[in-house]
Amino acid sequence: MSEKTAIYPGFFDPVTNGHLSIISRGLHVFDNLIIAILNNPHKTPLFSVEERIQMIKQSIKGKPHIEVDTFDGLLVDYAVKRNSNVILRGLRALSDFEYEFQMALMNRKLNGYVQSIFLMTDYKWFYTSSTIIKEAASFGGDVSGLVPRVVNDKLKEKFRQLKKT
Ligand code: PNS
Repeated sequence: MSEKTAIYPGFFDPVTNGHLSIISRGLHVFDNLIIAILNNPHKTPLFSVEERIQMIKQSIKGKPHIEVDTFDGLLVDYAVKRNSNVILRGLRALSDFEYEFQMALMNRKLNGYVQSIFLMTDYKWFYTSSTIIKEAASFGGDVSGLVPRVVNDKLKEKFRQLKKT
């Protein structure tokens, strides 16, 4: 049987423990995962693409069967380019559902060969997101336990720098 590779796309600005949970559970279902960071010039992220790659790499600590890559343009085109027909997404609370449904249907319209597969997030990460974590961290809130240590350190450093400027 040939190996199955899934694409796990997102902004990962920054990667959270919720993402890491989907990554490790995704590896119980697929042989290989490609973590694909969208490089969107129209969005201003907190962390550069290079910083996001580094934080993910340090968080997965050289675990096998995971590649970290970037993409731009359509996700389905990237999946085809990488010889995959699976998009893996995590589903959190109800609020995710409509957006994910829309995105999955659009992706299917764009390319009916590429399938979207969802894993329910662990209850621990039900209400966390990169956005809310950044918001809390920007005001000095303690987000340890929600993000890997490297991300926690980087968030503190980033907001310290931003306050100086
Ligand atoms: O981290 P996010 O915001 O959940 O990631 C969203 C992402 C990057 C998966 C989505 O915006 C995306 O796939 N963008 C690429 C452009 C594309 O293919 N759009 C058509 C489907 S909506």
